[in-house]
Amino acid sequence: MTSRPNGEPLVRLSGVNKWFGELHVLQDIDLSIDRGEVVVVIGPSGSGKSTLCRAINRLEPIDKGEITIDGGRLPEEGKELARLRADVGMVFQSFNLFAHKTVLENVALGPVKVRKKPKAEAEGRARELLERVGVASQADKYPAQLSGGQQQRVAIARALAMEPKVMLFDEPTSALDPEMINEVLDVMVGLAKDGMTMVVVTHEMGFARRAANRVVFMDGGRIVETAEPETFFTSPRSDRAKDFLSKILTH
Ligand SMILES: Nc1ncnc2c1ncn2[C@@H]1O[C@H](COP(=O)(O)OP(=O)(O)OP(=O)(O)O)[C@@H](O)[C@H]1O
Ligand SMILES: [Mg+2]
Repeated sequence: MTSRPNGEPLVRLSGVNKWFGELHVLQDIDLSIDRGEVVVVIGPSGSGKSTLCRAINRLEPIDKGEITIDGGRLPEEGKELARLRADVGMVFQSFNLFAHKTVLENVALGPVKVRKKPKAEAEGRARELLERVGVASQADKYPAQLSGGQQQRVAIARALAMEPKVMLFDEPTSALDPEMINEVLDVMVGLAKDGMTMVVVTHEMGFARRAANRVVFMDGGRIVETAEPETFFTSPRSDRAKDFLSKILTH
């Protein structure tokens, strides 16, 4: 566990509400994430974790409340939204790499298209990032030629290539074979240690204990409990968190 950083909010959600038809999927969410902070979001299936992540980079519009990134309110649409969205890197359960582009092209594409970087510069940076996530030797292969763990590390490199201010991870290891989980978690722990601001939806308690400043427990669209990882896992306060932990701990 690292100590909580300097108290400067980078991501702030205030009074955020969202409905899918009748379903009140995000209910009065207030959450402020400091620069350099790592927040793990945990909770039962359907509790709204993915919707929360998607709302933070506006893949999902919200119905009420406000979300700011680095002080700027997320615009509804247009160029400004594309730029702000590029400030938020996102890694999903499924790797979502472009199948017909090489690993290197996957990582270099965004900076060229969105950030308008010269191709050679973007590719140089892409190679550095592939090195950082441990897949430099795979640069000229296609995604299907890589293992799941390697593909997910490429997805992380691709997100980092945009120089995001915050990285969102939505169950990045849950589609992986067990032996590949750690190679991805190790990259994420490294990022956390380097000071990246991160929101990570995961049930990997080892990661939470090693890298998170806070655990946010969601249930039924609400944040039910927020605590330091050790406190949360050893002495959760709410009955809902106790119940949830008793279920995941028996697996
Ligand atoms: N596009 C959508 N339209 C309608 N309902 C949706 C949509 N996306 C999600 N939901 C519903 O919203 C609720 C929250 O979904 P969400 O995916 O955020 O949960 P989650 O906590 O990420 O769950 P899981 O652990 O299974 O990934 C669920 O009841 C889900 O069925
Ligand atoms: Mg989800």
